[in-house]
Amino acid sequence: MKRRDFLKGVAATSAGVAVAAGVGSLPKQAFAKKKGEKEDFGEIKSLKVKCISETSWFDNATLGADIKAAGGINSNQYDVAYNTDNLGGYAALVEVEALDGKKTKYLLDTGWSNDWIDYVFEKDGIDSMLKTKEIDTLIISHDHIDHYFGLESTLKHQPDIRIFFPGTSMPKSFELLKGADFSATPGCPKNATPHTGELVVTKTDTLYKLQDGAAIVFFDAPATLQVRGENVMYFKIKDKGYVTVTGCCHPGILTLINHGRRNFKDGEKMYGCYGGLHISPFENWDPKMDDIITGLKQYKMEKIACNHCTGWIWAEKAANAGLPIVMGTDSNLSYKKVGTLARAKTSNVYIGNGDSVTF
Ligand SMILES: [Fe+2]
Ligand SMILES: [Fe+2]
Repeated sequence: MKRRDFLKGVAATSAGVAVAAGVGSLPKQAFAKKKGEKEDFGEIKSLKVKCISETSWFDNATLGADIKAAGGINSNQYDVAYNTDNLGGYAALVEVEALDGKKTKYLLDTGWSNDWIDYVFEKDGIDSMLKTKEIDTLIISHDHIDHYFGLESTLKHQPDIRIFFPGTSMPKSFELLKGADFSATPGCPKNATPHTGELVVTKTDTLYKLQDGAAIVFFDAPATLQVRGENVMYFKIKDKGYVTVTGCCHPGILTLINHGRRNFKDGEKMYGCYGGLHISPFENWDPKMDDIITGLKQYKMEKIACNHCTGWIWAEKAANAGLPIVMGTDSNLSYKKVGTLARAKTSNVYIGNGDSVTF
């Protein structure tokens, strides 16, 4: 029989505390979940997600050529020589409003190019939020180039920030936390500021509660460039339902929705999502992508705020098919660099750099 640990991020005083979890460095308590019982991790009043940057790289063809030259998408991401002018990165500011009105900020991912991430962090005041410890935690969705290689841009402001990190991350990604330098290969990272804070290494079959109504679930899914596994943020918004916030969503949005339906109290009510949905990252259409539109329709979500590796082509088709795609603005066009697709787009189906969405 499978046991699911229920880890609380704060000292638990309620009945049901079993034993100290002893997971990684977590000074937390584990809750044995009874068979058939659905997880209830509480509720929040609202959620605001600000897109700091969803532009991982500025031109798909250039990145594609770099990866091809290194041997293709199954190469080790630390062995690819990237065109450094092309690099951006993914990061989002996630602001939770608790039922009592208290607001807490989380940073999801830390981008790729330090130049680009320093620029967007300054634009949105993330650098000063880190310095003043206004941001509670850094959640690394996964250690892919565009979500993790910019680690130094966060740590140089707050080396002791708590980090949630996928247990499946590559050995070099763990070394980067400690201050490794892989920058001899163009576009590969260095980190001159070793991490000194709490490191929560996530694993499957565990729900990591950040606060009432906010949790992280780790999914062990394969991705390109030898990367595996992804941390997904789940929120339960009072009177609305569940919202997922993702980096790339490599496990697939339908998997995430089904996880909530199977495991969470009132999990059948999925209200919305934010982030990359990894459907057509290189904008090549496959008829299977229609199935995701059909699949999502049956869940009656109310706000689909997508960007990044979703694919403009999918988001436009989904909007035309009647899915509630949240429209962005053209604020990304005022940034010092603009992705080739953002320029060529025919619609605002992406929550772009500088846009926000509230759930
Ligand atoms: Fe990504
Ligand atoms: Fe990814």
